[in-house]
Amino acid sequence: MTIGTRATGPHPLGGTTVVPGALDAPVAGSVEPAADDFAAVLDHRPGRHWLLHSDGRRSPLPVGRWHGPPEPATRAIVARCAGPTLDVGCGPGRLTLALTRAGHTAVGVDVSAHAVRLTRRRGAVAIHRDVFAPLPGEGRWAHVLLMDGNIGIGGDPVALLARCRELIRRDGTVIVEVEPPGPGLWRGHARLATLAADGALRRGGAFRWARLDAVAAYDVAAAAGLVVPEVFRSGRRWFGEFAVPGRRGCGWPAASGGGTGRTSRAGTG
Ligand SMILES: C[S@@+](CC[C@H](N)C(=O)[O-])C[C@H]1O[C@@H](n2cnc3c(N)ncnc32)[C@H](O)[C@@H]1O
Repeated sequence: MTIGTRATGPHPLGGTTVVPGALDAPVAGSVEPAADDFAAVLDHRPGRHWLLHSDGRRSPLPVGRWHGPPEPATRAIVARCAGPTLDVGCGPGRLTLALTRAGHTAVGVDVSAHAVRLTRRRGAVAIHRDVFAPLPGEGRWAHVLLMDGNIGIGGDPVALLARCRELIRRDGTVIVEVEPPGPGLWRGHARLATLAADGALRRGGAFRWARLDAVAAYDVAAAAGLVVPEVFRSGRRWFGEFAVPGRRGCGWPAASGGGTGRTSRAGTG
């Protein structure tokens, strides 16, 4: 949907803050997951891309990175993977490819047929599926990855992590890119906005989305039946490795009240 054409004057997404609701028209009708929610960025249409959140936040999307070669931060993820790995919401598949090149069995999963095509074109394996639909090898994956904000898929991180828990084997882990400590857990709607080279601003339909930071990760994990043995950083990016309680070295946290001990651990990470 085009919401404006830029001639001259301020940037259409300009200003340091976005007035909540100014860009995010009321969510009408269905906000069920659609295969083309990310179409503009998966097509790599020239322009700049943002994710507009219904709380007014706008996040520039690193679309060039998604379509490029695996960046240095992916090395830290690949190094943690020791067995068959499912890259959920693989997009154009650069991480699936990095894992494959490292000699792992890696499969990308994406609800977008185009993303799956792009991943396959790069030489990696991908299947066209919703993560909440039946998937091959359920309960047998060593790792499930949720990178690049993919913890937002479906708009409910507890439900998504609980689903990922079903996918991993007992000693498996879910590796999740999280936000630096601060914003906590946010759930709402998002839509994509693309500023095309001709100045037209196009905005997609709304879909459910969420954000999770390194502190709230502990309580969200617990609600999904997981623990977080480790939060780690690679450059400026933050990640959490989630595991099934009882996995070697992964008990439930000793202090279960309020999450203070757990969150301070992440906060000092
Ligand atoms: C933020 S992009 C992630 C980019 C990707 N990690 C990369 O490196 O290119 C989100 C991706 O998740 C996919 N996605 C959204 N909902 C999904 C679902 N329910 N199941 C599987 N994939 C989904 C989208 O199609 C999109 O490719």
